[in-house]
Amino acid sequence: MPPGACAIPDAGMRILGIESSCDETAAAVVQSDGLVLSDVVNSQIAAHAPYGGVVPEIAARDHLRAAVPVVEQALADAGTRLADVDGIAVTARPGLVGALLVGVQLAKGLAWAADKPLVAVDHLVGHLLSVFLRRGAADEKVPEFPFIGLLVSGGHSALYRCDGPHTAEIRELGATRDDAVGEAFDKVAKLLGLGYPGGPVIDRAARHGDASRGPALKTPLAGGDSLELSFSGIKSAIARHVHDAPPASDAAVADLCAAFQRVVTGVLVKKTLRAARRERVGTVVVAGGVAANRELRDTMAAACAERGIALYVPPFKSCTDNAAMIAYAGAVKLAAGATAGLDLGPATHTELPRVTRKGRGRRSITSS
Ligand code: KG4
Ligand code: ZN
Repeated sequence: MPPGACAIPDAGMRILGIESSCDETAAAVVQSDGLVLSDVVNSQIAAHAPYGGVVPEIAARDHLRAAVPVVEQALADAGTRLADVDGIAVTARPGLVGALLVGVQLAKGLAWAADKPLVAVDHLVGHLLSVFLRRGAADEKVPEFPFIGLLVSGGHSALYRCDGPHTAEIRELGATRDDAVGEAFDKVAKLLGLGYPGGPVIDRAARHGDASRGPALKTPLAGGDSLELSFSGIKSAIARHVHDAPPASDAAVADLCAAFQRVVTGVLVKKTLRAARRERVGTVVVAGGVAANRELRDTMAAACAERGIALYVPPFKSCTDNAAMIAYAGAVKLAAGATAGLDLGPATHTELPRVTRKGRGRRSITSS
């Protein structure tokens, strides 16, 4: 594919996508030009909320219950039958193995029964390509390659250089050494007794708060030219603060949320711009559940506008876990002839090569 070309320019194929890597059971039918024909997401939030986080066994069992009806709904909403789709794409990695297994087994069964090609999709590639989905809005524009992709979700946080839509064209520039950003939002919300998932509640609470009245928080890995990220320190700082001086009012909680969100979004914007400068790339894409965050969207938009960088952030529906992005990433692979066999199994790690090691200690690449 020539640089700057769109991922798949023609609408020739219809792909059924299935996603079950974490706590959403989702299915969608998408054309290979990115047009979303249906997009069904069954969230398990209520099942996990009492525990303040995702319980793997509950997730797997809930996927098992929801998967077939969700697929039937996606086909019905798209006005199509299984016999009429051109392929079946499924999230095969990374994620909770028991949860992934449900989607993978279902996709294999459907592919075998309907004699359709099966495509294994990496969830992270799905998120990075979610920006190519088109949902019928008049002002939809898609980016050109290359772009810097900031992927921020509940399980992953990393910066990528994307020279094309295929795995071999996506290179990690830096990732979190510890917690993912969404995980930090969820843990801080739990500490403050705000419920699960934490991102949306902190996002809302922060709107009523004043970051300058919250605790002074250090920006993690701010110096040097590192593109690595770290969020466990800031979570611990909040935990210490809450322990030493429990917030006594809703206003104090809101100030804490605002202070936390200010530092986290600030460092994400800073590192993304650093990546764009270092790679000499003028386009930025933000993807993943945390891309729904209002402050991140606003500060990233302002910073990119100031520097003449083109910014693309998918609509909320495309940011959080969905199967439309999996169907689209599947269409890209299917067009390249990359199908999977019926021996496909789930894997817990991404297929994108990692440069950032998890944990503490010295790094070979520069960090602060
Ligand atoms: O991409 P996603 O739906 O699932 C994963 O692949 O992890 O991301 C879920 C994460 C959760 O941690 C959730 O708290 C966070 O995205 N999130 C947000 C917002 N909406 C969802 N974080 C910050 N602000 C939000 N508005
Ligand atoms: Zn995700």
